[in-house]
Amino acid sequence: MSVVRIAIAGFGSVGRATAHLLLSRRQRYREVHGAEIRLVAVCGSRSGLAEPDGLEAGHLDALEPGMSGPAFIDASGADILIEAGPSDFRTGGPGLAYIRSTLSAGRDAIVISKGALVHSGPDLRALARSTGAMLKLSGAAAAALPTIDLLDHSLRGCEVLEIEGILNATTNYLLDAMMNQNLGFDEALARAQAGGFAEADPRNDTEGWDTASKLILIANFGLDADLTMDDLVVEGIGSIAAHDLETWQKHRLVPKLVGSLSRRDGVTRAAVGVRTYPLSDPLAHVSGKNKAIRITTDAMGETIAIGSGTEPLATAAAALKDLEHILTARAARAT
Ligand code: HSE
Repeated sequence: MSVVRIAIAGFGSVGRATAHLLLSRRQRYREVHGAEIRLVAVCGSRSGLAEPDGLEAGHLDALEPGMSGPAFIDASGADILIEAGPSDFRTGGPGLAYIRSTLSAGRDAIVISKGALVHSGPDLRALARSTGAMLKLSGAAAAALPTIDLLDHSLRGCEVLEIEGILNATTNYLLDAMMNQNLGFDEALARAQAGGFAEADPRNDTEGWDTASKLILIANFGLDADLTMDDLVVEGIGSIAAHDLETWQKHRLVPKLVGSLSRRDGVTRAAVGVRTYPLSDPLAHVSGKNKAIRITTDAMGETIAIGSGTEPLATAAAALKDLEHILTARAARAT
């Protein structure tokens, strides 16, 4: 039985859900992977390195109150970092230093927050390759919806020509409400916020940045592209007017906020904006808080995946899918 030590940086709702799910699956990791999983350190911006709420102290193998920062990865002796801190694609956020130091040390990283990966994805990708560390990001790249997995495994034998993604649940929910309940953008947003379906500051979602971030991650880590935010035209849903809604209703078209990407002659182009779909198109039926991706290839036609999992459990489960792949790879390396 090999011992695998895990540290979690970022202990908000997703970090906590990940810790709980991880601990609840310890027996599975023993039986399936021959791995004794130890959650050795948790670091949150509010708490420093601290005993997480809701976890029994006995489940944590090492706790050093008061410690924080990337040094905690070394101090904890973690083999794998799970990064779930605040996301900021303009600066990389606090996660960037944690991820860099983990990969530099040849340790594996499972990244859930998008900021560092959008800001410095190609650098982190190169760093992981140079040290032989594994860098996984299912939780960041639309979580419950399989995206990079499809490109990496299912469609590996093809050239990808186009991607269309309904990658943001909040805007999909809002557009649904605007079309089907005849609400304006502000009214739909106010109702979604009152119902807890939208962030208090929803601009990252409604202005298209969250969709753009996920699209960049899918392109850079699924297709080895080098896109930055500057390469994308990003439009959100805030400028949709009453007459747009009337026109779409009249023509039985369904609007979706779509991250789109095309690859021709080695050139990758990407954008975020509203597209409309006829009812004959499966993407027209991706309703509510669901997400979807359509990938068009040269040799395997079109593949569509639709995901309905919601945060934080689905995000935690996506991150722990990455852990399963890392455990499999570690076991293969050890033999
Ligand atoms: N706010 C995002 C969404 C989830 O609505 O899809 C985090 O990426």
